[in-house]
Amino acid sequence: MAVHHHFLVVLLILGFTAGQNGSDEMFDLTIRMPNATSSRPDDLVCRAQKLPEREAYIVSFSPHASMRRTHHMMVYGCSEPGNTTPYWECPFAEEVTSQPGLSICGAGQKQIVFAWANDAPAKTLPPGVGFRVGGTTGIRYLVVQLHYVDSFGVESADESGVTLHMTFERQPQQAGYYVMGNIGNIPPKRPAFRMEAACTYNLNYTIFPIGYRTHGHNLAVVNSGYRIRDDRWEEIGRMSPQRPQTFYETSTKSMEVRNGDILASRCTFNSMTRTQTTQIGPTNADEMCNFYILYSTHEEKDLKVEYCFRGDSFKWSDYFNYAPADASSLNGIPGAEKIRHTFNLDPR
Ligand code: CU
Ligand code: CU
Repeated sequence: MAVHHHFLVVLLILGFTAGQNGSDEMFDLTIRMPNATSSRPDDLVCRAQKLPEREAYIVSFSPHASMRRTHHMMVYGCSEPGNTTPYWECPFAEEVTSQPGLSICGAGQKQIVFAWANDAPAKTLPPGVGFRVGGTTGIRYLVVQLHYVDSFGVESADESGVTLHMTFERQPQQAGYYVMGNIGNIPPKRPAFRMEAACTYNLNYTIFPIGYRTHGHNLAVVNSGYRIRDDRWEEIGRMSPQRPQTFYETSTKSMEVRNGDILASRCTFNSMTRTQTTQIGPTNADEMCNFYILYSTHEEKDLKVEYCFRGDSFKWSDYFNYAPADASSLNGIPGAEKIRHTFNLDPR
C-alpha cells in the first residue's frame, strides 16, 4: 500500500461532554474525520481518539456516514493508535502490516467494537450490555476506519464518523468476541472448497451470541457458524463475505453457549478463477476465513478475544456424523442472485 500524506487539514472535530454529577450519567464521544481527502478509490483511512482513563461502557453507536461516500466504517479499541497524525492510511482489520505507522492499532490490544455498512441505522447493544473500555482493559484509544468508495479532494473533504454513547456506570453484562476460522491453503479450480473449524467452548462463563460478522476476500462465497449441543446444531449465522462485512442479527434469538458446548464454523470458497493455490493470508490476492461471534456475558473480568482456528485438513466429518445441509448455501441471503452471478454458480 502506498503511503499518502495528508498534511492539508488539521481541523479536529471532537465532542466530549460528560455528565455533571454521578457516574450514571450518559455522555457522548464523537469521532469524525478531520476533513479527510481520498487520493484513490477504495481508500482505507483511520483516525484515533483517546478515551477517558477510567472504566467506561459503550452502549450504542450513531454513525455519521453515507454509503454514497463510505463503503464501510469500523471502530477498533486499541492500547495505542497505529499512528499519531490526524488521520492515516490503514489496512483491513484482519490484515497485518509490518510497515510502521500503517497499522490500525500500535502495540498491545486490538479489538473490534463496531462495524457499519450499507447505511445501517444507529446500533444499540441490548439493554444492560456495554463494551468495557478504559480502566484495566488496556483499551485506551478508539480508532475509526473508513473505506471510501471514490477519491475526492478538499472541495468535498470528509467529516464522516461516529458518536458513541457511553457511561461510567458498570453494566450488568459486557460485550465481547469469539472468533473462528482457518489457516492453510485453497486449491485452484474448486467450485466449493470448504474450510471447517470446531472447538469445545471451555470457558467457565456462559455467553449469549448477539450478532455475528463474516470476513473473507475474493473467493469467499459463504461463511456459517453453529452451536452444537447434544448433537443438535443451531445456526448462529450464515452470510456471504461478498455482502457488507458488518454485524448481523443472529439466526437464533436468545441462544446461550456454555461450558461443554461446541462452536463450529465453515467457509466455502470458489477458486475456479485461480490456476494456483491460494493461501490464507493478509493481502487481497490471499484469502481469509473468519466468523466473528459478538456476545454478551455476565462475566465481570476484563474480556479478551477468544479464538478457535484450525488448519485446512480439519474436517467436521472426522468428528460429527451430521452437518447442516445448508451450511454452504446462499439461500436466504440478501443479494444471493448477484453473488451466484459473481461466481458463475447455477441459479437455484
Ligand atoms: Cu468497505
Ligand atoms: Cu482479510
